Parts: sequence; C-alpha cells; structure tokens
Amino acid sequence: MNILFVASEVVPFAKTGGLADVAGALPKALRQLGHNIIVVMPRYYKIDRSKLEHIHGALGVPMGSMGELWAGVYKSTLPNSEVPIYFIDYEEFFGRGGLYDENGEAYRDNDNRFIFLSKSAFMLCKKIGFKPDIIHANDWHTATMPLLSKTRFKHDFGDVGTVLTIHNLQHQGECFKGAIDVLEVGWEHFNPMEFEDFDRLNPLKGGIAQADAVTTVSKRYANEIQTKEFGFGLENHIKAHNNKLFGILNGVDYDEWNPEIDDKIVKTYDKNSLKDKDTCKKDLQKLFGLKVDSNIPLIGFVGRFAQQKGIELIAQALPGLLDLPLQIVMLGTGEKWAEYLFSDEATKHSENFGIHVGYSEELAHKIEAGSDMFLMPSLFEPCGLNQIYSLRYGTLPIVRATGGLDDTIENFDKNNSTSNGFKFYDATANALYNTVKWAIDIYKNDKKSFKKMQKRAMDMRFDWEKSAKSYEEVYRFALNKYNV
Ligand code: ADP
Ligand code: GLC
Repeated sequence: MNILFVASEVVPFAKTGGLADVAGALPKALRQLGHNIIVVMPRYYKIDRSKLEHIHGALGVPMGSMGELWAGVYKSTLPNSEVPIYFIDYEEFFGRGGLYDENGEAYRDNDNRFIFLSKSAFMLCKKIGFKPDIIHANDWHTATMPLLSKTRFKHDFGDVGTVLTIHNLQHQGECFKGAIDVLEVGWEHFNPMEFEDFDRLNPLKGGIAQADAVTTVSKRYANEIQTKEFGFGLENHIKAHNNKLFGILNGVDYDEWNPEIDDKIVKTYDKNSLKDKDTCKKDLQKLFGLKVDSNIPLIGFVGRFAQQKGIELIAQALPGLLDLPLQIVMLGTGEKWAEYLFSDEATKHSENFGIHVGYSEELAHKIEAGSDMFLMPSLFEPCGLNQIYSLRYGTLPIVRATGGLDDTIENFDKNNSTSNGFKFYDATANALYNTVKWAIDIYKNDKKSFKKMQKRAMDMRFDWEKSAKSYEEVYRFALNKYNV
C-alpha cells in the first residue's frame, strides 16, 4: 500500500512526548512489511535545514479565507531506514521556539498552523506524484485530513482510506468555528455529529466521525474513552463510532531503548550481568548528588509534569515517601507549580531526592538504566512508553492500573509466573504510597522474587512489527468499503 503518514512531531527531529516516538518508529516497521510509506511533519525552527535536502520549487497551499500560502519543502529519511520524511517549511507558522506553545501558553493560531500542515501534505503528494491508498493522521493536529480527502481534495485523491490514531483524547484542538472557511469543507460539516462542539470547531471530534477507521494506542484505553471518566466529553460520540474503533498497543524501538547497546549509559548490561546495572545505579546516584549505595532502593520518574501523569498524587505522597528508606530521582518539565514544588522538596531532602527540571534524552536513558523501579502513577494513560522501556532495562514499573499501563503491567504475585511490576487502582496518594512501600519491601526482603521479576521483564518484547501488522489490518478495514 502507499501510505501517507502525517504527524506534528517525529523522533529524532522534534519531540515533546510519545507521539514522536511512535511517528519515528511505526513507519519504519510498516516499510519493513513492504509498504511504500512517506512521513510529513513541519520544519520547526530547531530542525536544521542545512542537514536536509531541499526540494526544488515552492508548495502552494490553498488556505481558503487566508488565501494561498507558499511553503518550502525539505526531505530526509528516518534514521536507519529508507523511509522518506518531508518537512513543510513556513516561517510564519513553524519558525518559533515551541511546537505548540511557549511559556505554558498555546499559540493562538494553532488551528491555522495545523490546517496548514494537513493541507500541505495533500499538496505535497500532488507535487511529488505520490498517490496514497491510505492516509494515516495522528491526534487533533491532522484530524481534518479524513474530511479534506473526501471534500476539498477528493478530485485528486479519489477513494483513499483514512485512519485516525488518537494518542491522547485530552487534546482536541477546539478553536473558533471560522476555521471552517480556512478548511474549505463547507458549513454543512459544522454540526454536532461532526465538527461542532458547543459552537466551537473540534477537529478531533470531526476526525472521529469522518475517518474510515479510528485507532487508539491500547485496548484498555479504547474501552476507557467510551466512558465519562476518560472521554473528555466525547464518550458518546466515540461510542457511536465504536464499530470502527481499534486498540493497538504501541511498540518500542529497541535500537534506541536497549541496555545491551545503549551508548547513553555508563555501562551496558543484560539480564545475566545485573551487577553492571548496579554501576549505572551508582552513576545515577552520583549525578543527582545522592548517597552512593546500591542497597538503597532507587525509584525513577521521567515525564511531562502534567495532571495526566499523576503529578498531584506524587506531590501529596512525597513527604511520606521521603521518610521511607529509599531514593527518588525525577526528570521532567511542565506545570510550573510542580517544577517549583518538586525542586523545593529536592532542596529540603537532598539526601534522598533529586530532580532535573528540563528535557534530556541522555538523562532519560540513565534513569531507565540506573533505577530499581520506575514510577508512573498516571490518572489516564493511552499507552505509556516509559513503563515499557523500563521493563527492557529491568527497572520494575510501579503504575496505576489505567490504559496502556494496565495492559502492559501485571501486578507482583509471588506465585504468578507472569508478573512484571507493581500496580495500584485508586487514584489516591495513599494508594501510591502503600504500593511504593510494598515494592521496596519486596526489593529488600524478597530479593529472589524481585530479581526473578527483573529478568522476566527484560525478556519481554513489544516489537513494532507486531503492532504494524495490526495497523495493516486496520488499513485493509479502512479500504474495504471502497472494494465492495
Ligand atoms: P506522553 O506521550 O504522554 O508524554 P509517553 O510515555 O508515551 O507519554 O512518552 C513520553 C516520551 O517522552 C518518552 O519517550 C519519555 O522518555 C520522553 N520524555 C518525557 N519527558 C522527558 C524529559 N523531560 N526528558 C527526556 N525525555 C522525556
Ligand atoms: C500520548 C499518550 C501516551 C502514548 C503516546 C504515544 O502522548 O499520552 O500514553 O504512549 O501518546 O502513543
């Protein structure tokens, strides 16, 4: 199949979260299965043009009431692959410091920026003569593509199958309804069954209605988003479309996340050389100025400081946790209150709590390798990647049972030969505290079980190939209606 894959962030070019990991890896796995896939993303300010190939000629992008805008096009390939990736270069929209926001404030023209990306992808296909069988859009940014393919660009694209993947339902891209005139899809699509949401335009909602198939990144989350607790107001809308909804778990790029070959950690290791993991632990303790002692249980956290990630639970539980015989290291950025509060606690409890406020690939790897356990107390988690990375590093996840966390982690039970972590159910600081306490008790007093579980975790594989095969089936489903 010819597949057009469009995303707002792609590893290693631009990343704020897991979407970039997926967009950088899934296309490679699809190509391995024999598909002809191209990726399209914005050329953000931080992406160095001099390392990219310039495609001759400007790209005219029709933006309805804004007129026609002209973009530059650059090209590269996804690392270690032949998957072409195209960058849409338009200074006014993408030549900024952030991807979606700056200093915690979303850009006011995000609607136009991502309608522009979506439309550019169509125009690019025309320019390079790529005729997609499947358009794969991701999250709200490109969620208008299914409708665009059936209206504004129908003439050029014909019966193309459209798939929309929801990586996070919390962000829906709601904006002023006037964006319909930029989309040029006709006001008949501004109705509560499609793009209208309380008189605003909701791209994700419309995308869910219009796509031939909708996927999300774990089976559990596919069920959860049909409930009030996780639906962010779209639960009934999603339920109405659940005959085309699929849950496909993300995979892991094991070229990137593998303690046997990881060049960002001080010593590589495998399940038979766990003493070398201890060297990584000591390195991490040193880095964060903690007591260097491999007997003290060390718990890591890497992630966005956002409500989704359970940072409020951590904040509430922290004073109690820091009274336990353990060490905690955190890496993240996000909500300012959390950055201040955690930094403050780290100053007060410098003997067993360290934090780095910021974004660091290298440190993320060092925390995966050097920690004994990895904390992910998310309130909701569509898939979650860090718990899966943790398994590969023998760093046992402590998670809240939600979404992909629930699908990938099985609670410790001495007699269970498949358990791979620690899990709690209530979204309370108390449940979090008790589970950490329990985990460090096992760590200290049942070393044999702990080690066994570590080795088992390291043996588990979440290969992209398997997920890519499931996407292949969804693509067929999406195309089916054109083949009857
Ligand atoms: P989400 O996409 O909701 O943020 P995921 O678990 O799917 O959550 O993916 C998060 C990705 O972003 C992981 O690869 C994680 O290592 C990375 N990440 C998050 N925050 C940071 C940070 N401060 N520094 C380095 N990597 C980070
Ligand atoms: C989102 C989700 C996360 C998921 C990632 C990649 O950002 O929050 O759970 O792993 O997308 O699909």
